[in-house]
Amino acid sequence: MNENCNLKLYEIKTNGNLKDEEEQEYISIRDKIIQLQVNNPNLKIDETLIARLSKNKDTNIKQILKKLKLDSEGYGKINDLLKDDNLEEIMVINDKNPVYVYHREMGMMITNITLDNNEIRQIIEKIANEVQRKIDKQTPLLDARLADGSRINATIPPVTPDGPTLTIRKFKKTPITIFDLIKTNTLSSHLAAFLWMITEGMNSYSSNIIIAGGTGSGKTTTLNCICSFIPPYERVITIEDTMELQINHKHIIRCETRPPNIENKGEITMDMLLKNSLRQRPDKLIVGEVRSKEANTLFGALNTGHSGMGTLHANSSHETIVRLNNPPMNVPKIMINSIDFIVMQKRLYNNKKGSIRRITEVVEVTGMESDTLQLNKIYEYDPNNDKIEFHAISCNVLNKIANMNGFSYKDVLDEIDKREKYLMEVLENDLENIDNAEEIINNYYDKQNN
Ligand SMILES: Nc1ncnc2c1ncn2[C@@H]1O[C@H](COP(=O)(O)OP(=O)(O)OP(=O)(O)O)[C@@H](O)[C@H]1O
Ligand SMILES: [Mg+2]
Repeated sequence: MNENCNLKLYEIKTNGNLKDEEEQEYISIRDKIIQLQVNNPNLKIDETLIARLSKNKDTNIKQILKKLKLDSEGYGKINDLLKDDNLEEIMVINDKNPVYVYHREMGMMITNITLDNNEIRQIIEKIANEVQRKIDKQTPLLDARLADGSRINATIPPVTPDGPTLTIRKFKKTPITIFDLIKTNTLSSHLAAFLWMITEGMNSYSSNIIIAGGTGSGKTTTLNCICSFIPPYERVITIEDTMELQINHKHIIRCETRPPNIENKGEITMDMLLKNSLRQRPDKLIVGEVRSKEANTLFGALNTGHSGMGTLHANSSHETIVRLNNPPMNVPKIMINSIDFIVMQKRLYNNKKGSIRRITEVVEVTGMESDTLQLNKIYEYDPNNDKIEFHAISCNVLNKIANMNGFSYKDVLDEIDKREKYLMEVLENDLENIDNAEEIINNYYDKQNN
């Protein structure tokens, strides 16, 4: 039985396709050329060479040359997939299966593209060369970023005994903004305005926020969107393993970790970058994904007056705390207490809508009572009506913002409503098509001051 039979086909039409019998001939010629190139990297690939290497006098030499050129440009057979902004992920698992893709609307699909192990290795080698890294039996894993910003992970045997694999999280050319999240119902306009309030804090208190969720649930995207609420007077430092955040903030230093070189030297870890950033006078520290030793440094910083945001892999707010509190992160509960909010995001399956992404709860960390962190649910998702409801009878941070500004709690709630109205106006007037969400948010303050 074909295990892929339930998956829809995503067909890519390339003008380099060959008939089945020609394909065999093409592979044989291509492999011979690769062997010749080992001794002669400047080998001229032309019709004469192909005619010489061909076993069959009827070979369509022009077509083979065209396909060779297409396949050697960029990343060969997956070039067309890489250009397609409808795709979230491109997944090559081995030479026995077609290339899988995750389509933004249709979910997981198979394509009409198959690669043999040589072709997969060639693409991986090319990427490794571009980022001046190596992938071999001793270091069979590669994490890197393509020139277009896409994040890649490659593995080769022995860690994937079935053959080389390649996973590409495609960079979206037009980044998802907070307005897109409202339009797609990932969050409500009220929650967007609330996140705005707690990130900017009316000039007085900027919250520490962890966005937690499963793999591919949209944590980084939501973090990126929330960053558009960071006020312009804050100095931002981002620290990531592979640079993914696309923040338009002007006063920003972006840092990326570096793996060890061929001699196993020169590694720069998240923790080293984070420690360094504390000497750069940050207002807001943003850690792409908190997962290891750097958690302690981050929470140390949060406990000494810096503010921060980051994503974390966990399936519930409770699990977020358990993971932070246990190895390898080992953050003491008293320090975890410096988180103001945990925003939970999930990828859910809805019968009518298919695969959807939703913020399913926002929890405030309100303090510690006899070694237990106290959590207060501020927003909760109701799957029956696909809506997220606001429960804030009392929210410590909103109270703090009110007190620091000499406002009442209700004044702050009213300001959230005003900001929600502004976001809705922007959406109704289609202004969200303006690329820069930050600019739209900053225009709000200008409007208030005039
Ligand atoms: N709310 C959303 N609506 C539609 N698409 C989204 C949404 N959020 C994220 N995406 C898309 O889903 C993919 C995964 O998103 P993202 O990288 O933010 O997830 P993640 O949870 O950070 O993943 P990982 O666990 O791999 O770090 C991206 O291609 C992104 O464009
Ligand atoms: Mg992420």
